[in-house]
Amino acid sequence: MAARLQGPRGRFIALEGGEGTGKSTQTRLLADALTARGIEVETTREPGGTPGAEAIRDLLLAPPGEGWAVEAEALLFAAARADHVARLIRPSLDAGRWVVCDRFVDSSRAYQGGAGRLGDEAIRALHAFGSAGLRPDLTVLLDVGEAQVVRRLAARDGEASDAIGGRGEDYHRAVAATFRSLADADPEGFAVVAGEGEPQDVHERVIAALEPFLAQESR
Ligand code: TMP
Repeated sequence: MAARLQGPRGRFIALEGGEGTGKSTQTRLLADALTARGIEVETTREPGGTPGAEAIRDLLLAPPGEGWAVEAEALLFAAARADHVARLIRPSLDAGRWVVCDRFVDSSRAYQGGAGRLGDEAIRALHAFGSAGLRPDLTVLLDVGEAQVVRRLAARDGEASDAIGGRGEDYHRAVAATFRSLADADPEGFAVVAGEGEPQDVHERVIAALEPFLAQESR
């Protein structure tokens, strides 16, 4: 592990959940709230966050030809993440900034590992190699319940969705189930936040989940 040169390391918060759980809205509201508290924040997303990772995002979400074999898909997510971690996330944390990230490795565990059936060990091995196994200080899982997931997927019919978001209901059910089991297995690393209701109400629940970190910050 590289030694920190100066000041305290920033906190790394990831927001996770299936399609249409409100992650992007909550990422923005959280970043704004942290900034209002005087915390320096880097807001980013996966796949993406650096020019190289954004280029890989395009390959993943609008694949050329018939799409990727699931192993290739997992490797591309891991490659995008490796660049993102090396060039943006670690330098920001080392400089004392907080990083708020819309999706991180737990998306690969839920989508490629769970729904794509590669298994958790394979995803963790890729993450160990690509990103030295970096974990968020806290993963906030926005949980909207199965009925709402199915409703949101149905309401999306006719909209142009990307190569992964457009997969079938069974795939997305498996994503949601894997997220829940990851959170159950690691109650310290995850905060499960009910994603139902008005964005501002959800935001208040997100802030409540972060209270232990915010309390340390204001000491
Ligand atoms: P987004 O639309 O939330 O930005 O995410 C893009 C899609 O990529 C979404 O369907 C989830 C999927 N995804 C994975 O399958 N594995 C991953 O590791 C990540 C970060 C996203």
